[in-house]
Amino acid sequence: MTGAASLYERLGGERAIAGLVDAFYQRVFADPLLAPFFEGIEPERLRRMQREFFAAALGGPIGYSGRPLRAIHAPLGIRTRHLARFLDHLTATLSDREISERDCYDIYTRIHLYADEITGATSVDA
Ligand code: HEM
Repeated sequence: MTGAASLYERLGGERAIAGLVDAFYQRVFADPLLAPFFEGIEPERLRRMQREFFAAALGGPIGYSGRPLRAIHAPLGIRTRHLARFLDHLTATLSDREISERDCYDIYTRIHLYADEITGATSVDA
């Protein structure tokens, strides 16, 4: 391969990212601290939007067509501890796979960039 492959390409493109996102959400939905937030949502839509979001955030040739993160998450009352647990599941999902430490770190960093949009005004009191 010539040139620098994007993180998206190195991970294996759309299919690999879809697999990663599905494994990640299985962990999130199975966590009693996080599961209540997802009651009554449409899991298929969430999976589709998350696949898009991750692909776009990791440099893939896909745009995110979902709703703005701040607007969706603000009314949910997500605290720093919920976000931390969510990100712990991301780390665990990544470390289950054959992804280099460097790439795991880069993925985590790119997703963590959105932390403030998820916790919004509630991030100060967790
Ligand atoms: C950096 C961390 C996060 C990112 C990047 C993220 C991203 C997203 C995206 C892309 C969607 C789909 C939007 C759409 O349907 O248009 C979504 C929906 C959702 N997220 Fe997050 N999220 C994060 C953290 C969290 C956390 C920590 C929770 C709860 C503890 C959470 C709960 C939800 C729920 C309940 C929905 C569905 C809302 C609905 O369909 O009404 N998210 N998120």
